[in-house]
Amino acid sequence: MTTMESLIGLVNRIQRACTVLGDYGGGTGGNAFNSLWEALPTVAVVGGQSSGKSSVLESIVGRDFLPRGSGIVTRRPLVLQLHKTEDGTEEYAEFLHLPKRQFTDFALVRKEIQDETDRITGKSKQISPVPIHLSIFSPNVVNLTLVDLPGLTKVAVEGQPETIVEDIEIMVRTYVDKPNCIILAISPANQDIATSDAIKLAKEVDPTGERTFGVLTKLDLMDKGTNALQVLEGRSYRLQHPWVGIVNRSQADINKNVDMMLARRKEREYFDTSPDYGHLASKMGSEYLAKLLSKHLESVIRSRIPSILSLINKSIEELERELDRMGRPVAVDAGAQLYTILEMCRAFDKIFKEHLD
Ligand code: GDP
Ligand code: NA
Ligand code: MG
Repeated sequence: MTTMESLIGLVNRIQRACTVLGDYGGGTGGNAFNSLWEALPTVAVVGGQSSGKSSVLESIVGRDFLPRGSGIVTRRPLVLQLHKTEDGTEEYAEFLHLPKRQFTDFALVRKEIQDETDRITGKSKQISPVPIHLSIFSPNVVNLTLVDLPGLTKVAVEGQPETIVEDIEIMVRTYVDKPNCIILAISPANQDIATSDAIKLAKEVDPTGERTFGVLTKLDLMDKGTNALQVLEGRSYRLQHPWVGIVNRSQADINKNVDMMLARRKEREYFDTSPDYGHLASKMGSEYLAKLLSKHLESVIRSRIPSILSLINKSIEELERELDRMGRPVAVDAGAQLYTILEMCRAFDKIFKEHLD
């Protein structure tokens, strides 16, 4: 692992520690931890319903584990942390709400996301802003924290309250409003980019386009004889970062259980053999997108090291105070947890300082 890779890995682990700590609620957890979480970059996936958000996320992870399909499938935010592990180690997933269980069967991960969604929202088409936290440990991922969100929509459907359109927008905004949020703005190529919900919102919260990555899905579904060069070359809507075109699995592929690796190969083939996008081929596709994001995260984190350091120090102080106050903790679990996190913070402090030199 490169030092930068391990640095992002550390940031990932701090975020996870903050989340776990936050879970104990009450007096523990403190404000420094909240600010620390807020200071760390996350990537939010934003777009209209069925634009391909969940599919893009899965392609980035290289695993099949999200509920997908037509209509409103994603009904709670999913905070997904990818942790790169040593080569040769087994891939597994873990939910914050099920800390003792390691999932190696990703079909069960999908089922648990569905069940956990229903637990809060009922088996309806309702939404909830309460996030589900999922970590994936794998040698095949890049260190990233991603948030999958319900799709922006224009009308409520049968069984949904009239306020749902606004509720979803408010929920999405709580993520993308934060200056440290990197916006993965998903638009389908088979719709006019001028009508893209993702771009409309991104334009508003990030007018200079410095933290927005434009992603164009469904290139394979464009009408014959048309192409997306206007968009992909940045002539329709200019962003600071280059647009990335994607070909995800179609619903028919999903129904046929086309696996992720085959889908990636087909996507690569699509670009390599495309008469329209040949000259852009090396900068297209989900694997390229994952690398682009990871590289961007690196530079963001590097520029934030000093402020992250000072927040870590504040957190250490808060944790020490908290442990003092607790004396011998009544809840042994919470005390032990605090102690572990304190140790972790001290280690981070040391490593971050080394990176400053
Ligand atoms: P979300 O609602 O934005 O999360 O979208 P999903 O990822 O659930 O995708 C919605 C539907 O569009 C699914 O049936 C996908 O198979 C299909 N889909 C997504 N991206 C593509 C693509 O690039 N090409 C094709 N042909 N279908 C896609
Ligand atoms: Na959908
Ligand atoms: Mg979705």
